Formats: sequence, C-alpha cells, structure tokens
Amino acid sequence: MTSKWFYHPIKTELAELEEASLLRRIPAVDNGAEKELLFKGQKFLNLASNDYLGLACDERLKIASIQAVRDYGTGSAASRLVTGNFKLYDTLEQEFAAFKEQEDAMLFSSGYAANLAIMDSFADRHSVIFSDKLNHASIIDGIKMSGAKHVRYQHNDIEHLKKRLESFKNISAKILITDTIFSMDGDLAHIEEIAQLCEFYDVMLVVDEAHAEGIFGGGKGLCFERKISKLVDLHMGAFSKGFGSLGGIVSGSSDLISFLRNKGRSFVFSTALPPAVVGANLASLRLVLSDPSIGEKLLDKSRDLKLFLESEGFDCGNSESQIIPVILGENKVALQAQALLLEAGIYTAAIRPPTVPMNTARLRLSLRADLTSDDMEKIKHAFTLLKKEIL
Ligand SMILES: Cc1ncc(COP(=O)(O)O)c(C=O)c1O
Repeated sequence: MTSKWFYHPIKTELAELEEASLLRRIPAVDNGAEKELLFKGQKFLNLASNDYLGLACDERLKIASIQAVRDYGTGSAASRLVTGNFKLYDTLEQEFAAFKEQEDAMLFSSGYAANLAIMDSFADRHSVIFSDKLNHASIIDGIKMSGAKHVRYQHNDIEHLKKRLESFKNISAKILITDTIFSMDGDLAHIEEIAQLCEFYDVMLVVDEAHAEGIFGGGKGLCFERKISKLVDLHMGAFSKGFGSLGGIVSGSSDLISFLRNKGRSFVFSTALPPAVVGANLASLRLVLSDPSIGEKLLDKSRDLKLFLESEGFDCGNSESQIIPVILGENKVALQAQALLLEAGIYTAAIRPPTVPMNTARLRLSLRADLTSDDMEKIKHAFTLLKKEIL
C-alpha cells in the first residue's frame, strides 16, 4: 500500500510540518468545554475555548437540550427542506430574528456552512467580493466556491478599501464581507466607515458576528452596538461561540433569507441539526436576552487583563474584545510559552501559521465571563513568571 504514488509527497510534507513546529495534533483534552478543562487527567484554567459566556456547561442549557431529545428524538433525519424540521427550529429562528430586529433568520449546521452558503448564493463569476485580509477561512472558502472575483483589502485599512471600491465601481454585483471581531487578533472592524462606503458604492454588506454576538451590543453584536444594523444586508453569526452550543445563524430581510433557503447548497444538501442542539440554542438565546449586561462585564475583565499584559511588556496587538493575542513571533517561542503556562495551571492555544501570518505565532487568550477575581490574579501571576522566561 505504502508504495502508492501519494505516500512519498505526503510523508515529505508531514516531516516538513513537524520540522517547522507546524504539525497539528488533536490535544489530549478529555473535557474541553468546562472552565476547568481536563487535559491528560489534570485540570487547567481554560483560556482556549470560544465559550466566552461559560454557557456550554450551563445546567439550563443541558436541561433544554435533554427536553428537546425527549420531545423530538436524537436526529433530524433529513434536510430541513424535506422532513428535517420541528417546531423548535421555527421558534428559534423567529426569536432570533426578533432579537436582531431583522425580518427573518435561518439556522445552519455550523458557522462554516453559513458562510459557504452566503457567498455561494449571492455571488457568481460575474460578481466581485471585497474581503478583509484577515477574514475567517470559512469566508475565503465560500468566496472560492462562488467563483467570484476575490478582492482582498489590507486588514482594517479603510483607505485601501476605498481604492479597491473605486477600481471596481463600474461592476454592479458587488459584495463586501467582514468579520466584526477578528478571531485571531480580537480587534474590531471599522464597521461604521465600511457601512458608509457600502452605501456610497452600492455594495451588499455582509458581516460575520460570530465572535461578537452574545457579547457586544447587549448580545446583538457590534453592528447593533454601533447603531448601523440597518445598513447591513446580512448578519451572520454562530451559536458555537458565546452562545455555548453549535450552528450558524443568518438574519436579514425576508427576501434575502428566502433566497438563501433556496440557493444555499450547504443548507439544501445537508441533514438539519439535531433537536438537542436546537434546544440548547434556544435556551442560550433566552439567557442572553434575560441578561444583556453579561457581555459588557466580560469586556471589562478583558480590558483589565490587556492593560496588565501590556504593562508587563507583552504585545497584545489591537485587541478590543474578549480575544487577546499575546504575539510572540516564532512558532517555537509560542509553544514554549504555552508549555510554561500549563505548568502554572493555565491552558492556552498556541496559534501558528497558516492560521496567522508567518512570524506572528501567538498565544490566543479567550476570556470567559465566569472568571473570578482569583482566576484573574492567577492569570496575571502566570504571565509575570512567563515574562522572566521568554521576554
Ligand atoms: C469569524 C468566524 N466565522 C465563522 C466561523 C465558523 O463557525 P463554526 O465554528 O460555527 O463553524 C468561525 C469559527 O471559528 C469564526 O471564527
């Protein structure tokens, strides 16, 4: 078997990845969703998940999920458009649309599937898509799938974006898509200026609020906080981050959502999410609605930690959110820092190329709302020790 043509190049590439400290392996995490993550049989403070509001293990979500299984079973058994639907789905979409103050909303099996569907439905080879250079991989894959011309602009560079828009002003089918919180840097898109430009150049504006919903704008996202929601054509979000569950969610006008239901291949040709997940999503949405200040409290903690880290000499980029990068440069240094923090009882993610640009390997800290002041002290103390070792 190993003599087949593909083994040699694959083995070579794997060896190269290993040599560059870039070979990915599934970590020996036994329970990664709890605040106290279980790794190789030991507990660590979890600063690596996207469960920003600490809802993934919330009793209320668990109960809702179990109830949904009792009511509807374990699987949805078909695509939504065939028979894979249940009342819970419709309720979730209606309540989510009302939450976002949009006409309609549509659930996908993941945020990844949602971005594929958006790009593939609204663009084709005659379209131009403007996309921030640091947009999430699911957006890039969606653009590729659509066959549209992909016009990237420098990260958060409005002057560069203006030039790009000017160059393509005579093309009619234009879409701009941007993350609102960038997932590896934790910085915010200049969304007000982007929205104004899209108005001026008649561009369809799509925002990916995966890391902002549940946290910014009373949970409704950054565009809501900045009062430009009405200028956005499609709002993409995810239940997999702050909401502590799973699924992509897109909201907007009835016409756009109806079009997406008809054209989105990752929706049409895929089995619907199971009831357990949809039950948890609904419970999570209602929790966020009942306590819109939870996100703001998390952001206060994040600002406090970022200030501390900077005062210790760490480079945290332009983070203004619950995602704080600690940019260390070389892959090996990031891995060393990760190991030292583990010794201090803290689990962080070491992020390396190709997820981030070369020589910007980093620890990605994602803060959670349930961190106590003792936890915050523990984190600060660990970084003070880390500084002595690596800076
Ligand atoms: C900005 C952004 N959009 C979309 C996704 C995909 O969402 P999901 O994990 O629900 O597939 C992610 C995932 O990390 C993300 O960071």
